[in-house]
Amino acid sequence: MSYFIAITGKGGTGKTTIAALIVKQLIERGCSPVLAVDADPNNCLDSALGVEVKQTLGRAREETRELASAGMASGVSKMQLLEMKIAECLVEADDFDLITMGRPEGPGCYCYANNVLKEVIAKISSQYPYAVLDNEAGLENLSRRIIQKADLLVFVADPSRQGLTTVKRLQELAQEMKIQYRSLAVIVNRLPSGDLQRPMDELLNATGADWVIGLPENGELAELGRNDNGVWPISSSNPVVSQLDRLLTDAGITGRSRGVCP
Ligand SMILES: Nc1ncnc2c1ncn2[C@@H]1O[C@H](COP(=O)(O)OP(=O)(O)O)[C@@H](O)[C@H]1O
Ligand SMILES: [Mg+2]
Repeated sequence: MSYFIAITGKGGTGKTTIAALIVKQLIERGCSPVLAVDADPNNCLDSALGVEVKQTLGRAREETRELASAGMASGVSKMQLLEMKIAECLVEADDFDLITMGRPEGPGCYCYANNVLKEVIAKISSQYPYAVLDNEAGLENLSRRIIQKADLLVFVADPSRQGLTTVKRLQELAQEMKIQYRSLAVIVNRLPSGDLQRPMDELLNATGADWVIGLPENGELAELGRNDNGVWPISSSNPVVSQLDRLLTDAGITGRSRGVCP
């Protein structure tokens, strides 16, 4: 069984950057291979990880549907065809693999394929000690039960009043949808300097989170977001990296080198 870290929050709050940095820190702790799952239809995790995605699960599902309905799948079961298409979606790097969900199902929901997708993701992810999911804000990928639960659920928000309200709504939504998680971390990202403590106590009370973490506005991260190499060149002394690393320790992920990678 993998340890699932699912990251969600409104667009532009920094969730893809944080997902990529968590992948990086897991690798540094010796927890590779890590499975990165881009579950945001507006996929960007590939560029944050410095790799290129050629095929998405959404497109694989559509192509399978088209081939099957055109009768081009003779001799191969629909399941085998879909599995072959899904295999094309996995981008393999040295210490991590990336799979990209792409567009969610359209109006004519292809439930059979969604069920297969769910099975295949479960099968693929069971081969990795850790999976990191970059989700869309609405928790739909979690609620569609493609991924049923997270060991560590992370909400990312901007420090505006509206951003903080969104976190409270996400937490209510997670409860309504009965999303299971072992621990919850709330990250308030891009805090102006000198303003690190303000929203923390309020969010801690409102969400019952295990951790509320403020990450500063950081010039190095903003700069890295403008190039194509992903988060890899970031310096290990970067304060955002240190805080995310501490979160992994607090969540009990101490790393294979110390013998405790589940
Ligand atoms: N703490 C930070 N300081 C400065 N820039 C940041 C920080 N976190 C994220 N960014 C930048 O903000 C932009 C949006 O981040 P991104 O991770 O793509 O957000 P999301 O996935 O939530 O849409 C990116 O250009 C990224 O480099
Ligand atoms: Mg994103």
